[in-house]
Amino acid sequence: MKRIFVIITLLAAAPVCADGNENLAPAATNQKWKTECSACHIAYPPSLLPERSWRKMMGGLDRHFGQDASLDGPTAQEITAFLVNNSAERGANKRAKKVLGSLGPNETPLRISETAWFVRKHDEVSPQVWKRPKVGGPANCLACHGGAERGDYSEHQIRIPR
Ligand code: HEC
Ligand code: HEC
Repeated sequence: MKRIFVIITLLAAAPVCADGNENLAPAATNQKWKTECSACHIAYPPSLLPERSWRKMMGGLDRHFGQDASLDGPTAQEITAFLVNNSAERGANKRAKKVLGSLGPNETPLRISETAWFVRKHDEVSPQVWKRPKVGGPANCLACHGGAERGDYSEHQIRIPR
């Protein structure tokens, strides 16, 4: 009898949002991507944008959100291949499929934060919160997701700065 109660307790404690605890770090990393693409912000999870977005972004690094993020040819090629191999189409996580499903066939967003998936997942964050100095906008994942650099976006790691 005691054992049955233990099993019921364990089932009740299982997370409601099954994909909420999935880690978004790519299965195998790439040193150049890690170094070059985390110089100004965190290295964003490649699985949160489709292949076409990464190719477009990597083709215009000299004009990257108002900054020059250019790389030499071989480095750019290696990073592009890595991003494409871990893009939303190939990412082996449930969120990758949701990101992809949220985009129209002709949509090529350059921002994760502009995908319909992202907007929906963050609808509880008010415009005033995005504007707080310690947040600084949706691109600053690390402001609220303390585990962002490790690919950990789980709920218990979220803390919105005041
Ligand atoms: C010289 C600085 C710099 C480097 C290097 C850099 N970025 Fe950025 N990146 C930026 C800035 C600035 C933004 C806009 C941030 C904002 O809106 O607050 C940005 C935004 C982004 C975004 C959109 C974030 C969002 O969802 O709103 C992605 C994706 C991105 N960068 C990918 C990359 C990749 C991939 C690399 C490596 C090839 C890279 N960045 C290297 C400066 C840089
Ligand atoms: C202002 C704080 C804030 C910032 C900045 C922020 N997020 Fe979030 N994020 C949240 C909140 C709040 C939730 C909702 C948690 C929930 O559903 O309970 C969330 C949820 C998520 C989830 C979980 C969605 C799911 O499947 O349940 C992911 C993944 C995520 N954010 C990624 C990002 C990424 C990537 C960035 C940067 C491009 C980012 N967030 C920027 C606050 C933030």
